Amino acid sequence: MPLRFITAGESHGPCLTVILEGVPAGLVITEESLARDLSRRQTGSGTGPRLAQGMENDIPRILAGVMNGRTTGAPIALQIVNRDHAHWKGRAIPAFTIPRPGHADLPAAVKYGYDDFRYALERASARETAARVAAGAVCRALLDTFGIQVGGYVSAIGGIAARLDDVSLEQRIVRSRAAASSCPDPAAAEAIDAAIDRARQDGDTLGGVIEVAVLNPPAGLGSYATWEERLDSRLAAAVLGVPAMKGFEIGDAFANTARTGTTAQDAVRSEDGRIIRGSNRCGGIEGGISNGQPILIRAAMKPIPTTIAPQESVNLAANGAAAQTGYERSDTCPVPRAVVVIEAVVCFVIARALLEKLGGDSIDEIRPRFAALRALAVDTLRLSSESKIFWP
Ligand SMILES: Cc1cc2nc3c(=O)[nH]c(=O)nc-3n(C[C@H](O)[C@H](O)[C@H](O)COP(=O)(O)O)c2cc1C
Repeated sequence: MPLRFITAGESHGPCLTVILEGVPAGLVITEESLARDLSRRQTGSGTGPRLAQGMENDIPRILAGVMNGRTTGAPIALQIVNRDHAHWKGRAIPAFTIPRPGHADLPAAVKYGYDDFRYALERASARETAARVAAGAVCRALLDTFGIQVGGYVSAIGGIAARLDDVSLEQRIVRSRAAASSCPDPAAAEAIDAAIDRARQDGDTLGGVIEVAVLNPPAGLGSYATWEERLDSRLAAAVLGVPAMKGFEIGDAFANTARTGTTAQDAVRSEDGRIIRGSNRCGGIEGGISNGQPILIRAAMKPIPTTIAPQESVNLAANGAAAQTGYERSDTCPVPRAVVVIEAVVCFVIARALLEKLGGDSIDEIRPRFAALRALAVDTLRLSSESKIFWP
């Protein structure tokens, strides 16, 4: 069974549930390790009052698929209780009839015939990403077992960009953990915090750019052969599947558009009998296949649609009369806390591609196959100098 997961649950319902299928047996999983990632989704500058006031404090429960701290190979069920549900239970909630531009409210109501936007927003709310982070934490544990790390940071918010050219990927990730904005450049982080404060005072919101790196990935994940197998297209789909992510970049994709063909690639060199690369502009993927270099991803997150400052809209309960949007507890800038969400979906895609490549039902069965994959490095490549191919 290929690795896959499904989530269920509404923002103010009793709980979020995620079922993850295809995880091999023998992987060490604890509720504490899942909670570490979930708590990162709940903090950071720009976080709204629902989290800042501790209304949600995500504690994942493992309900199935794990015994004595190890996966059994059966589907894993995880549950995250919505503590805020207690405040909503049994209450008649006022109808939500003025759509917020940029949210799912209006398109979802048209599509599903809703007479109250709350039916849509309860599920379209990014509260659901907590379930994805829980699934991603299981995948992260699998990748950790094989020495593959996935980490991210904020590289820009509200047009304020970090200067990171001289900072290694590892350092960027470490430094970002100490910053409320998740930005590893202290000068930019200070300016970002001030910009978020200003946006909060103005009742507005800010978007930004998140960068995620897969460190120490094996070569050979994904395929050039079909569009569904390409590792880059799978990463793009997973990243753009996160609410508010509107742009995706692999490596230097956009900067490369200003370079020429001879300067946009990563030179192939031979050093001490090994094949090495002169740079990593392609972001670790060539022809849809990982080439063993770090996989580099950028995601553009839009400024979120719920704003304290009213926006122009209409009231569908008043025959479409002009109206201004209302406000319900919301973030000012969830970019810092969305870093772990992007990491989670990247962990899932890489873990799935790894299991697809290696097969196997238990970690013990996969271990020697992984060692063989690592050994199959490009420096062992031997190609014939005479063509043997004849078209039929
Ligand atoms: C971690 C995270 C937190 C978010 N928080 C909010 C929020 O508080 N208010 C809001 O209007 N949108 C928030 N969003 C974005 C909306 O969920 C998203 O804009 C909406 O579902 C419409 O989808 P789209 O922007 O992809 O078109 C958040 C997104 C993420 C990833």
